[in-house]
Amino acid sequence: MSYETILVETRDAVGIIRLNRPKALNALSRQLIADLNAALDDFEADAGIGAIVLTGSEKAFAAGADIKEMQALGYVDVFMDDFVARWEQLSRVRKPVIAAVAGFALGGGCELALMCDLVIAADNAKFGQPEITLGLMPGAGGTQRLARSVGKAKTMDMVLTGRMIDASEAERIGLVSRVVPTDELVETAIAVAQKMAGLSLPAVMMAKEAVNRAFESPLADGIRTERRLFHSLFATEDAREGMEAFLDKRPAAFRNR
Ligand code: CAA
Repeated sequence: MSYETILVETRDAVGIIRLNRPKALNALSRQLIADLNAALDDFEADAGIGAIVLTGSEKAFAAGADIKEMQALGYVDVFMDDFVARWEQLSRVRKPVIAAVAGFALGGGCELALMCDLVIAADNAKFGQPEITLGLMPGAGGTQRLARSVGKAKTMDMVLTGRMIDASEAERIGLVSRVVPTDELVETAIAVAQKMAGLSLPAVMMAKEAVNRAFESPLADGIRTERRLFHSLFATEDAREGMEAFLDKRPAAFRNR
């Protein structure tokens, strides 16, 4: 399937989505979000896909919501349309999603990266929530996910001033899990995705669900969820295979059952 604003390909069991509006630094237009959501739906439904990589160009992951489109909107427009609600689909994907970020990840671009399960950054990456400089504020989860990810001090610093941080600061504060040379970014992210896709998909999906619960519930509820999911994996053929393979000293052959 071909799209107007993104490029989509698969590499073995990995689905790769590349944001592709180079003239606008991958600004997140209505069309781009529709294309992204359609591609995510396809990969979710495809039993052959075990993990997804979301990336942009070397210059920009995404420079935020499309300011040209936003400028035309008034309060009733954004309220009636529930503007940016559609962006949240990324956060509901059940398979693992890796953001591979080079260049600018600003505003909604930073917020999309925060919706992914882990962020791998190129050494030229820059993260920021500059909405305040437009007289706005983050609207796609930035104030909430950034605070949960890096804490109050750095979040207030970024959200109230619009200050951009570079890749090494992003790694130091825990916004990204690794920093790699720009020309190795996409291959590194694909390799990490391939590692995940080679594991038992039910186990990976349940582990993702359990970790995400940590950000949404009190500790006791999160622990209970973890325990239930942990127990349910004992019903899978993959867990039988994984444990048997370990004891037989051979690689496990998972069948996602
Ligand atoms: N929306 C629309 N167009 C954008 C854009 C955006 N967010 N960001 C960049 N562009 C366009 C520019 O208008 C420019 O287009 P033209 O060539 O037609 O003029 C082109 O992309 C290249 O941009 P620059 O010339 O500005 O490139 P630069 O290298 O000098 O600067 C930048 C790069 C620092 C990222 C700068 O483009 C910038 O500050 N962009 C806006 C960042 C921003 O404010 N993002 C937050 C948006 S609000 C939001 O995201 C709301 C939310 O939370 C949901």
